[in-house]
Amino acid sequence: MTATTAADAAYIVAALLFILSLAGLSRHETSRSGVVFGIAGMAIALAATVGLASRSIAATGVTLLLAALAVGAALGIWRARRVEMTAMPELIALLHSFVGAAAVLVGWNGYLEVEHSGSAQTAVAEELLRIHHAEVFIGVFIGAVTLTGSVVAYLKLAGRIASRPLMLPGKNALNLGALAAFGVLTGFFVAQPSLGLLIAVTTLALLLGWHLVASIGGGDMPVVVSMLNSYSGWAAAASGFLLNNNLLIVTGALVGSSGAYLSFLMCKAMNRSFLSVIAGGFGLEAPAGADAETGEHRETSAAQTADLLAGASSVVIAPGYGMAVAQAQYPVAELTRLLRERGVTVRFAIHPVAGRLPGHMNVLLAEAKVPYDIVLEMDEINDDFPGTSVVLVIGANDTVNPAAEEDQTSPLAGMPVLRVWEAEHVVVFKRSMAPGYAGVQNPLFFRDNSEMLFGDAKQRVEEILHALGPAPATPDEPDGRELVSTRRS
Ligand code: TAP
Repeated sequence: MTATTAADAAYIVAALLFILSLAGLSRHETSRSGVVFGIAGMAIALAATVGLASRSIAATGVTLLLAALAVGAALGIWRARRVEMTAMPELIALLHSFVGAAAVLVGWNGYLEVEHSGSAQTAVAEELLRIHHAEVFIGVFIGAVTLTGSVVAYLKLAGRIASRPLMLPGKNALNLGALAAFGVLTGFFVAQPSLGLLIAVTTLALLLGWHLVASIGGGDMPVVVSMLNSYSGWAAAASGFLLNNNLLIVTGALVGSSGAYLSFLMCKAMNRSFLSVIAGGFGLEAPAGADAETGEHRETSAAQTADLLAGASSVVIAPGYGMAVAQAQYPVAELTRLLRERGVTVRFAIHPVAGRLPGHMNVLLAEAKVPYDIVLEMDEINDDFPGTSVVLVIGANDTVNPAAEEDQTSPLAGMPVLRVWEAEHVVVFKRSMAPGYAGVQNPLFFRDNSEMLFGDAKQRVEEILHALGPAPATPDEPDGRELVSTRRS
């Protein structure tokens, strides 16, 4: 068996492992095996690629390759170990930018090696040359859009630049104009490649990527992250064509299509137009929402909330980003157990974009051992609020904002929300009257049946637990499992 055949066989195994990984990651119960399949696939792919490359490059090249691998792996492990769960979206956005940068470099390298060096006739067969020109150009374009788009997404998610949409005049015309210019430049490049055209398309795509994502408002960022995930996949697939690497093509297509499907599902969940997102048109119609409803809000205490819960027959907990920040999931799980033991029906209402990444709340609740069957999706629970005694909104804001349904001028207008205000009582856990991620005020806080429980969510839930009876959870508890089993004994 030649080295190329062995590498191809390894690539097929790796591709199958990636497919198994995606399948595993689609369900909580199998997500761990999904991660293991992914790691195994990537290890095989890297070993096969280094093995194959070592046959055609000098020993120094192999050493450099291994050194790059070691540096990359060390940086990756360091970041992955340090990152907070709440900072995952920005890390993912940053990683997408690396894929974009790699695609640009591969494209430029392809050009310098073939078109620019004049070695076209020897390196690439005459009839395939035009395809090569197109691959270089398209790869650089997708890569550069992904690169700057991901950097802007990172800056917005990390709060380093404002999350409100950039509203340049003629924003759609600019985007469409850039796409049309790309089409025309591609035609010229395929006919007669030149360095000038490649520089032009790189600059154009870098500006387009920046503008596309800068034009999108904070509330719509979840879709942007998954859209960039898709773009990074297509960028990798484009590199695969250039490098003649089948695994990169398959993996890129898997990431590209699964990211596009996820974006589509999220657009449906948020009642947004898929095409509008792809075109960066999200924030276009969104007014500033400056005239948000305000008024008198009422404050409550942990002890009063405990009394309310003690007399409730059914409780729904709507968690959000604040629960993740406060790491309140462990005392929340404990509160759930306690109330259920007292005969109260407790369920969780999960909004599709609660938190900062898809499935964020589900992961946290699973971590704290909340039973899956009481964790319900928005559509499963939204009609049940009128019959609910108490809703605890724990660190959620945009996802429970009635303005999305009632105020056509709100930037959240049209986005489905949890209709928590239809319950008998609503207690909102947060530290202040500050707005949520989308930057708009929430009229829920001023409703007659709403009360605000200010302070850190974890601390407040622990106080409620204390008021209800058993001792509160210890703040340093590293793991909810320990906590739950101790209390049971
Ligand atoms: P947000 O609207 O961001 O509201 C979170 C609330 O938690 C804030 O109002 C904050 O108020 C409160 N909070 C923060 N730290 C807290 C703490 N330690 N204790 C108690 N409360 C705390 O969250 P959400 O309702 O989950 O909505 C998600 C938002 O993020 C949406 O706009 C969504 O589009 C966006 N987003 C989602 C994703 C994905 S994929 N899920 C990705 C990126 C962005 P205080 O500061 O007053 O405490």
